Amino acid sequence: MNIPFLDLKAQHRAIKDEILPLWAAILEQGSFIGGEHVEGLEREFAEACGVRYAVAVGSGTDALRLIFIALGLGPGDEVITVPNTFIATTEAITQAGGRPVFVDVRPDTYNMDPEAIEAAISPRTRGIVPVHLYGQPADMDPILRIAARHGLWVVEDAAQAHLAEYRGRKAGSMGTAAAFSFYPGKNLGACGEAGMITTGDAELAAKTRMLRDHGQARKYYHDLEGYNARCDALQAAALRVKLKYLPAWTEARRNHAQLYRRLLGDAAGVVTPAIGAGTNPVWHLFVVQVDGRDEVMEAMNGAGIHCGLHYPIPLHLQKAYAAMEIGAGAFPVAEELSRRALSLPMFPELTDQAISDVCRGLEGAVRMNGVNAR
Ligand SMILES: Cc1ncc(COP(=O)(O)O)c(C=O)c1O
Repeated sequence: MNIPFLDLKAQHRAIKDEILPLWAAILEQGSFIGGEHVEGLEREFAEACGVRYAVAVGSGTDALRLIFIALGLGPGDEVITVPNTFIATTEAITQAGGRPVFVDVRPDTYNMDPEAIEAAISPRTRGIVPVHLYGQPADMDPILRIAARHGLWVVEDAAQAHLAEYRGRKAGSMGTAAAFSFYPGKNLGACGEAGMITTGDAELAAKTRMLRDHGQARKYYHDLEGYNARCDALQAAALRVKLKYLPAWTEARRNHAQLYRRLLGDAAGVVTPAIGAGTNPVWHLFVVQVDGRDEVMEAMNGAGIHCGLHYPIPLHLQKAYAAMEIGAGAFPVAEELSRRALSLPMFPELTDQAISDVCRGLEGAVRMNGVNAR
């Protein structure tokens, strides 16, 4: 058996004939930065997310960093986020001059626990960054209410949540601004690096647009110092092709998740992810919890079923954040998830047969591990 965790080759085989002529035209024209495909992608992605403005940038990390800089984050300013995310979330806060402050997550949805937020707010708090982890929107209504009460902005880390919905609203349309990643393995992935900022705030859109291009709105007229954080035409052209297929790919992921949940619903020793009230996740990842996760994963790998870990070490326990001096036990739910979470194969082209094989393999590995642990 060989079931990959992710198979991008299948996706590209299906749409290569649409992408290659666009790339050939770009090569012919020699216009690689900005241009009609970048503008087209911004327009189409804004529409898909139900937002007024979208600003294409070089990566999801650029998107986060430029939003924080545009919001005026400064030295000593605190931003509340979660420890069970990719480090880009907190790198962007730190690199914009702020300081991440962690709150724990809920054990069922793996997302920010709104009830933990108030205790983390200080006079230096400027904003909250919920992460729509694995493609499931965080519980935004209470988060937005708390933010409004304390005069804070909310930036959605929607890197994993293209087209996800929360009470009828799309991920990326609920906060002050949002960041999306088009890293190749994401639900909407470039053939390289790219990302997107979405916002309903015209001023924020204009500022991030300048920041991504050395602080200029007109060539060589720099209103401020910015960055080289642009999205290139080759990526934008490929992303426009892929965006057309994203609703169908998302539907396929939802069907896969439904099948996983049905087949694993009664599996002893396997906890499947809960779906938060009012959310319609897009299943970037399908993450279950098991005891003896590392042994289970090794057994699965040995059987040719490839799984992933998201994420094996929560951010507050990473070496990079040793200076924060936050010890083990500070965020028990996130820590428990880092020991128990196992990401099963998930991509649109996955077959029902493969899902059934994964479930059988998982149940077998969990059973064997239980026997060995006795
Ligand atoms: C939750 C989260 N935030 C931010 C990022 C950063 O995106 P990128 O890799 O495009 O910089 C990623 C993806 O890698 C992510 O998963």
